Amino acid sequence: MKAINLILCGLILSLLTAFAQEKNPGQPLPKWEGLASTPQMGWNSWNKFATNISEELIKATADKMVELGLVDAGYVYLNLDDGWHGERDAQGFIHEDLKKFPSGIKALADYMHERGLKLGIYSDAGTNTCACYAGSLGHEYQDAYTYAMWGIDYLKYDWCFTHNINPKGAYATMRNALRWAGRPILFSMCEWGSNKPWEWAADVGHSWRTTGDIGVCFLPLPQKYDEQGNPVWKNSSVLEIIDLNEPLRKYAGPDHWNDPDMLEVGNGMTVSEDRAHFTMWCMMAAPLILGNDLTNMTDETLAIITNHDVIAIDQDPLGIQGLRLKKEGDLQYWFKPLADGAWAFCLLNGGEQPQTVTLDWSKLDFTDDLSGLSPSFGSVTYTVKDLWNASVKPFKTTKPVTVTVAPHDVITYRLSR
Ligand code: GLA
Repeated sequence: MKAINLILCGLILSLLTAFAQEKNPGQPLPKWEGLASTPQMGWNSWNKFATNISEELIKATADKMVELGLVDAGYVYLNLDDGWHGERDAQGFIHEDLKKFPSGIKALADYMHERGLKLGIYSDAGTNTCACYAGSLGHEYQDAYTYAMWGIDYLKYDWCFTHNINPKGAYATMRNALRWAGRPILFSMCEWGSNKPWEWAADVGHSWRTTGDIGVCFLPLPQKYDEQGNPVWKNSSVLEIIDLNEPLRKYAGPDHWNDPDMLEVGNGMTVSEDRAHFTMWCMMAAPLILGNDLTNMTDETLAIITNHDVIAIDQDPLGIQGLRLKKEGDLQYWFKPLADGAWAFCLLNGGEQPQTVTLDWSKLDFTDDLSGLSPSFGSVTYTVKDLWNASVKPFKTTKPVTVTVAPHDVITYRLSR
């Protein structure tokens, strides 16, 4: 009897402690785990629409996501970026801009949930967002509470107007607040890699930006300088971002991904560039957040963003970011270990000329330092499937194969045992 009483007391005590920890604002609390066991997929309003967002646009986008099979392909988050905000009230609670969202954000979240989608929102760790709306500094718990009450599922948290606050503290505060608010909300950190979040944020966010903002450009934009000779801020190109993100692969994994920024597919690059951009984000196990106008896109764009085989590389359950084996001039050789002993292989041509190479698999063998895995081409024969060109019949790795990679394009294979 005594033993049972003791066990009961212990149980009640641990329940009370757990309850107290969940309910005390300011306590360090764990992030919501398991929300991004593979990189998150969805759509975000910023790249195409900036702050020109509205209930009409967001609902039309949601409808398209369902109609075009994007939700079935895995794109489940529909994320509002900067500019949804109205004012804070006298108690400090944030409200939506009712001119842009007349039915309110709560009704919008309901609209998403009824259609199998999830709603994301955006805020900033500083006094203001990058587009100068109200930031969350000093209002973290209130904001997390409001988002939870609205039924929000995802928060992108930016880093403008942060006035030298401590980045670890600022992001941990919002993580705690989200946990305290009681609704599982994926936490997407967006401080552009300025404070090396990959070194300290695995237990804070589900992903962290590793670079500045992407532009609609495959090649680097020219650097401009101000009158004092200081470099002027510019968008990063696809090739620059790949170079910055690649060395960080050891920090990424399930529930804590490197985020090389949202996709620009369908926003003005060529079809080859879009294909290469999309494939490389998949090779790097990046969050796949579409950024184009889904209500008005070409068949080529739709075919790129719904290529199930390429998406499967990104979403592979091993969750290992791919590696660049070597670079020969403009040609980059990439591998990504996949579940079931398979590999993804990608040849990226960053140059202006077509590149013809012979792939002698036995000469491409290596061991990945991070995973300890090796394709072992000497002893294992793989069946190779071309993921962008269905007219190429599957072939084996026993013989060398000669291929030509178009300019600013990729050849992408899945090598299965
Ligand atoms: C920053 C972010 C962008 C976008 C804008 C919004 O620049 O990096 O992704 O959210 O702010 O103002």
